[in-house]
Amino acid sequence: MSLLVIKHAAELVTCHGLAPKFGSAMNDIGIIPDGAVVIENGIIKAVGTTSDILAQVDDELCQVIDASGKCVMPGFVDSHTHFIFGGYRPEEFFWRLKGAPYLEILERGGGILSTVQATRNTSKTELKKIGAKRLADMLAMGVTTVEGKSGYGLNCGTELQQLEVMSELSNEQAVEVVPTFLGAHAIPPEFCGKTEEYVSFIIKEALPAVAKQGIANFCDVFCEQGVFSIDQSRRILQAAQELGMKAKLHADEIIALGGAELAGELQAISADHLLQASDAGIAALAEHHVVATVLPTTTFCLQESYARARKMIDSGAAVALATDYNPGSCFSFSIPLVSALAAVQLKMTPAEIITALTINGAAAVGRGDKIGSLECGKQADIVILEYPSHLFLPYHAGINIIDKVIKKGQVVIDNQRDKTV
Ligand code: NIG
Ligand code: FE
Repeated sequence: MSLLVIKHAAELVTCHGLAPKFGSAMNDIGIIPDGAVVIENGIIKAVGTTSDILAQVDDELCQVIDASGKCVMPGFVDSHTHFIFGGYRPEEFFWRLKGAPYLEILERGGGILSTVQATRNTSKTELKKIGAKRLADMLAMGVTTVEGKSGYGLNCGTELQQLEVMSELSNEQAVEVVPTFLGAHAIPPEFCGKTEEYVSFIIKEALPAVAKQGIANFCDVFCEQGVFSIDQSRRILQAAQELGMKAKLHADEIIALGGAELAGELQAISADHLLQASDAGIAALAEHHVVATVLPTTTFCLQESYARARKMIDSGAAVALATDYNPGSCFSFSIPLVSALAAVQLKMTPAEIITALTINGAAAVGRGDKIGSLECGKQADIVILEYPSHLFLPYHAGINIIDKVIKKGQVVIDNQRDKTV
C-alpha cells in the first residue's frame, strides 16, 4: 500500500464538487488554510486542516511532502486542444498580423488544410513522438488531463489514427488524454465544393467507424460561416449522439451563427470559443447546463474581441478555460498565459479562474466525478505552486510557478523550488 501525505499547505484549494460550478458558485473554491491531504494508492482518502489530518494519520508511516508556504490545488484540466498534428504554420501567424483573416487563409486551401496535408504525411510513430513531447511540456505547467481533438486527417484512416495515437499516449505517459472526434473541422480537398457530400461521409462512414473503434466519447464540429452551417452541425452532432457520443461545438468563434443556441438545443457537454455568442446564446448555455469553454489565448493570437466570460458567469453559466493549442490559431499551451488573460481581459476573479481550470474543465470532458477537485474518493491529481496562494497564478503573468505535479498519487514533476516569499 502506498500512502502519501501533503501537509501544511498555506492554502489547500479543494475546488470541491462533482459537476460544473455555475455562476457565482464559481467563486466557491473551498480554501483550507494550513491544509493537508492523504492519498492512498493514488486516491484521495482525507482532506482537512493539518492538525485534523495528523490526528488521524501517523505521518511517520507515509511519504510526506511539506507544503509550507505553498498552495496546493487540483491538477489543471486543459479541456480543448488539438495537440496531435504534423508540421507548423509560422508564416500564417505573421500573415494574420498583417491583416489576412483566418477564414480567408482557410478558404484559399491553407490554414487547417495545410496541417491536414502535413498530418497525413506524418507517420504514426512520429505523431506519437511529437505528441509525447508536447504532453511532457504541458505536464510541467500542471496539466494532468488534456482533451485532444482529431480533425487533421479528414479521412477515415488518418482520423482514426489520430484518435489511436491519443489513446496510446494516454496509457504510456503521465498526462491522461481524452480524445474527441473532430472530422467536421474543415472540408478536405477531395470534397472541395461538395460540403453536403462530406457531411454525408461523416454521418454514414466516419462516425460509425469512430464508434466502432470505441476511443472517442465526444464529437466536435467547427460550426462557422464557410465551414459547417448550423443545420449541418446539428445533423452531424445528432448522428453522433445516436451513436452514444456527447456533443461539443466550436461555436460563434468568428461570425455569430447561433452556435451557442445550437449547443443549448442539443444539450452539448460544452460549447467552445463563443467570442460572438449572443445574449440568447449565453442564456441557452446557462439554461441547458452546457459548459462554456473560453479560449483567451486564441483570441489574443487572432486579435479578436474577447468572449463575454463575465456576462456568462453573471448569467449563471459554467465557464471553463482551456488553451486550444493548435498549429494555426493558437500555438500555445501555456496555462499561465491563459490565467493571466482570463484576469486581465475576461475580468474573471482568481477563484473563478481556478474553478474554470479544474472542476469545470473536468466537467467539460465528462470527468467531474473522478478529477478536478481534492476530495475523498477522487483521483489524486494535484499541483503545488511555489507561492502561498492561488492569487499568484493569474498575477504571475505568463510564468510557470509549478513546484510539483502529482498524478494518480505519484510525484511526476518536482522542480524542488525553494519558497520564494
Ligand atoms: O479552435 N477554429 C477551428 N479550429 C481550431 C484551429 C485549428 C487550426 O487553425 O489548425 C481552433 O481555433
Ligand atoms: Fe479548437
